[in-house]
Amino acid sequence: MLSREQAIEVITEAMAPFQAEDVIFRDVMVRNETVSLTVIGATAMQEEKVKEALIAVLVPFGVETVHCRFRVAAPEADEAGGQPGKVAGTAIGHGSNLSSSLLDPDNNVTFIAIASGKGGVGKSTVTVNLAVALARAGKRVGIIDADIYGFSVPDMMGIEERPEVINDKIIPINRFGVKVISMGFFVEDNNPIVWRGPMLGKMLRNFFQEIEWGEMDYILLDLPPGTGDIALDIHQMIPHSKEIIVTTPHATAAFVAARAGAMAIKTEHEIIGVVENMSYYVSTSTGEKEYVFGRGGGARLAETLNSELLAQIPLGQPENHPMEADFSPSVYKSESAIGQLYDELAESVISNCE
Ligand SMILES: Nc1ncnc2c1ncn2[C@@H]1O[C@H](COP(=O)(O)OP(=O)(O)OP(=O)(O)O)[C@@H](O)[C@H]1O
Ligand SMILES: [Mg+2]
Repeated sequence: MLSREQAIEVITEAMAPFQAEDVIFRDVMVRNETVSLTVIGATAMQEEKVKEALIAVLVPFGVETVHCRFRVAAPEADEAGGQPGKVAGTAIGHGSNLSSSLLDPDNNVTFIAIASGKGGVGKSTVTVNLAVALARAGKRVGIIDADIYGFSVPDMMGIEERPEVINDKIIPINRFGVKVISMGFFVEDNNPIVWRGPMLGKMLRNFFQEIEWGEMDYILLDLPPGTGDIALDIHQMIPHSKEIIVTTPHATAAFVAARAGAMAIKTEHEIIGVVENMSYYVSTSTGEKEYVFGRGGGARLAETLNSELLAQIPLGQPENHPMEADFSPSVYKSESAIGQLYDELAESVISNCE
């Protein structure tokens, strides 16, 4: 029998002509001689053809049953997308049930804020991939995308659906075993939202209190860049948060990142360590490491902050194909070299926190 990866590859090919007509697939599972998957957006006319095409390519691999669930193109997503005010309005800011709040002192969850001095160094990438790696290690993990204006986590993880609201509580989206909440879920057509400070704080607070998180081991917070109001808000809201500082290897970046570190220290957040991102590029021709953004910034920052250099992540794009069932542009797979570095980072974080 073929592996799930092989099945996805074969299905991707068979589905290519349909994809041109906006028919996509996801949730591929292989069990014994059965392959099951969900096909989204096929018309009644296309359904038969999709089935035929899938059977034709899978049977030669010993597949006996192809179980195909057909779904119309995400009506819930359209509905939520069309009326974000409704989702946000009914659920957010309503009778908060503080008993299950993440901020409850009895709650055993470990918060880890991912911070940086400047933008674009890879905070969101590190947040997403550390979360996925912690989930792979069996931990119950959530992400709060606290970058209220510049949210990027949903896109990076390939999340297309919108959260459901049950009993006035928002159910976070589960992706690769990670529960995710982001302002991006409550915004229409990528339109920017302009809010004044107090509203922002309220929104963030809601992310802790109005969301049905359930039992969690770790909540990672993807902070906006720099040491602005939101970052400060978060620091004050979660007095016991731990923190990871992300920097590039460049001396200036590390110097600016030290400011974020200084803020963590001032607000008594415990710095777990530094992640140096975009550390080097492995030349495809020579296989040598090329230090295109300079060298040593992470180590120096760790020293300045009296903490540890937890990981050095090289430049590289995740191997991911838009036709794949679990397409997510920024998630490195466990079997890739960078995915393994994230698994190691998760291990250090776990041993640091438990
Ligand atoms: N190791 C890497 N190799 C290649 N590209 C990377 C790497 N890390 C991050 N990137 C890319 O760099 C860009 C910035 O990364 P990311 O969005 O994670 O940074 P950020 O610090 O969260 O940015 P912002 O401050 O805007 O929130 C993205 O396009 C991301 O895909
Ligand atoms: Mg970001």
